[in-house]
Amino acid sequence: MPDPIAQSDPGASYYAHREEIDEAVSRVLESGWYLLGKELKAFEQEFASYLGAKHCIGVASGTDALVIAMRACGLGAGDVVITVSHTAVATVAAIELAGAIPLLVDIDPATFTIDPESIEDALMTYRGEGRIKAIIPVHLYGHPANVQAIVEICRRHGLKVIEDCAQSNGAMAGGQKVGTFGDIGAFSFYPTKNLGAMGDGGAVITPHVELAERARMLREYGWQERYVSSVAGMNSRLDEIQAAILRVKLKWLDIENARRRQIARAYDENLVVTSLTLPQQRGDVSHVYHQYVIRCGRRDDLRSFLQSRAIGTLVHYPVPIHLQPAYLDRIAITRNRLPVTEVAARQVLSLPMHPHLTDGEIERVCEAIKKWS
Ligand SMILES: Cc1ncc(COP(=O)(O)O)c(C=O)c1O
Repeated sequence: MPDPIAQSDPGASYYAHREEIDEAVSRVLESGWYLLGKELKAFEQEFASYLGAKHCIGVASGTDALVIAMRACGLGAGDVVITVSHTAVATVAAIELAGAIPLLVDIDPATFTIDPESIEDALMTYRGEGRIKAIIPVHLYGHPANVQAIVEICRRHGLKVIEDCAQSNGAMAGGQKVGTFGDIGAFSFYPTKNLGAMGDGGAVITPHVELAERARMLREYGWQERYVSSVAGMNSRLDEIQAAILRVKLKWLDIENARRRQIARAYDENLVVTSLTLPQQRGDVSHVYHQYVIRCGRRDDLRSFLQSRAIGTLVHYPVPIHLQPAYLDRIAITRNRLPVTEVAARQVLSLPMHPHLTDGEIERVCEAIKKWS
């Protein structure tokens, strides 16, 4: 049996930057200060500057980043938030955790991101009820959603835009980093993400000082002044060890995203001769290939074949959220239903993708797929 090829490999990222990460972790351990200290402050400044954002607030996870983003925007009970069913369940779970009501719309078949036409349809259907308050475009797989179109729709209808950037750290549309288009952007530093911590982590960014202040209060019990809650908050802090590790990894993000693009190009060139539908990209975007996702009519067969050759793949995501047991029959979806989403769930397959894949491993994946095809 050949050596296994992992679909993603956060451990490889540790070994690639081991000395710097070990030094950063020791620095924090020896400092005796583990929460809301110098490392977090420095990371927040460095991450904001990397993105071209005004304010950054580190929190405990990407899910919390979305919850805090919504609550900072004043969303809560009875407010409807539009998003997609083809995403990590966290996007929808966060809407309910914030006390709001998700309304799920369809995706664009080429990029797997929210379809502006489906949004317009939902707005027409529910117009008059006045309860739709925000849209969460998800920049899925590292490909920016059509965020310029969404911002324009939101301006027309007076809605907030909360960008879910969990999978698209460093991605750009029209030369501008995702997360900086809307009112507030939410990031995840889950270990396999393009900017991954060694545990949980997340952040929100915003150009608005009042949203930044509210988010900062919400992450620590709603305190403006210690032990006195100005608003009802929560505990969601990005700890000093994770912040120190993220400072190391942020320096490598552009280089690692470039390597992801190089791997994607190698897949594109080698797999164009197969029957697979390869990922597409809108003209104005810089894709960061959090995942390289193909479509295949015989997806499960291809997956087993690759597994038999020790090549790891994943399905993101096998069951659309509106069809999962926790949400089935109770979650609102748009009138035209979600046909594009449901087909995608049957066809998508994520090939091995992480910046430490070797050229030899990429070649092995391509040769195996060609053999199967
Ligand atoms: C699109 C999307 N949104 C939100 C999240 C939530 O992030 P976390 O796992 O850090 O809570 C994730 C990660 O799983 C994600 O992929």
